[in-house]
Amino acid sequence: MRWTPLIVAALLAAAGCGPKDAPAGGAGDAGTVKIGVAGPVTGGQAKNGEDLVDGTTMAMEEWNAKGGVLGRKIEIVVRDDMADPKLAPVAAGQLVDQKVVGVVGHFNSGSTIPASEIYNNAGIVSITPASTNEFVTDRKLPLVFRVCGRDDQQSPAAANYIADVMKAKRVAIFNDKTAYGKGLADGVERNLKGRVEVVLSEGFDKAERNFRPYLSKLKDANVDVWFFGGIFEQAAPLLLQARQVGITAPMMSGDGVHGYQKDFIDKVGAGAEGTLTTFLNTEGAPGYAAFVARYRARFEGKEPGPYAMYSYSAASILLAGIEQAKSTDGVKLGAAIHAGTYDLPMGKVTFDAKGDVNSGGYVVWVVKGGRHTVVGK
Ligand code: ALA
Repeated sequence: MRWTPLIVAALLAAAGCGPKDAPAGGAGDAGTVKIGVAGPVTGGQAKNGEDLVDGTTMAMEEWNAKGGVLGRKIEIVVRDDMADPKLAPVAAGQLVDQKVVGVVGHFNSGSTIPASEIYNNAGIVSITPASTNEFVTDRKLPLVFRVCGRDDQQSPAAANYIADVMKAKRVAIFNDKTAYGKGLADGVERNLKGRVEVVLSEGFDKAERNFRPYLSKLKDANVDVWFFGGIFEQAAPLLLQARQVGITAPMMSGDGVHGYQKDFIDKVGAGAEGTLTTFLNTEGAPGYAAFVARYRARFEGKEPGPYAMYSYSAASILLAGIEQAKSTDGVKLGAAIHAGTYDLPMGKVTFDAKGDVNSGGYVVWVVKGGRHTVVGK
């Protein structure tokens, strides 16, 4: 079946995620305040959509318990982009039509880049918890923010570890040809230049699941470590197949692979040991442990994915910003968020002129005993 936007909308409506008719919803009237959430709610990256929806739900419930914002109750409106850059603008258009006052999302850079432009032009603030490609904020759109880091912070962290800590001599690099995966892989390659020899560099489609042709080249390349710019749903079969053909060198990847226990580490099993990732230092975040405990209590023991806390942060900032702006007007809200300081489980958050967070920083993690563990700063 081809996933047309109409089918997706119908499925979401059936799943209870469709547009809900608020009594008199929308900005500027006395109904509920609608917050949009958009990302891959279904498909291979559904765990990422779950993080977005769960984190936003937690923030919404907290605020509703104390009376909502500006005396109005909050509701969330979810749209699925299936991590597809072509579906993302459709989802964005639907959220604009729904008169949401802010958006948590999207998740994937390839979706966030086109969708955030639509929100910005419609006067709607969007905050992505996860899109790390530089271009998201380098456009300096005044209503676009992110609470995660940037790939020009993440790629040097990976390259420095490969060159200075592993002292690798030969490296291979693969990417999934998406804005995120290719951007990150290119950044790693740039940062390795003149330090470590990149003997193989190739992209394959993000739908690819048979990696044998690439892995036979990787085997011949005889590398010390190989980097993959992409997402866990592809990294799991890629690494499994690599181990099956006898490749023992460790794989390194970025935030798209980090922190997925069920969907990556458990799927690959013993072959995942030694896998390196770059991610924000959640272990160093002041409120991380307490956030995880609250998340588990709220969602009946479910484990949060890596971006649940950042989704909660994005939603909390939107809601606090509305109070500060004393308005749901997007331009006023954007200005309030640019000027604001937010104390959150991830730490103290302020934004620079581009809409990037002034905090954070990437650390290197390794899979050890079946868990991601911080290994290098
Ligand atoms: N950081 C990944 C992206 O930007 C999830 O797409």
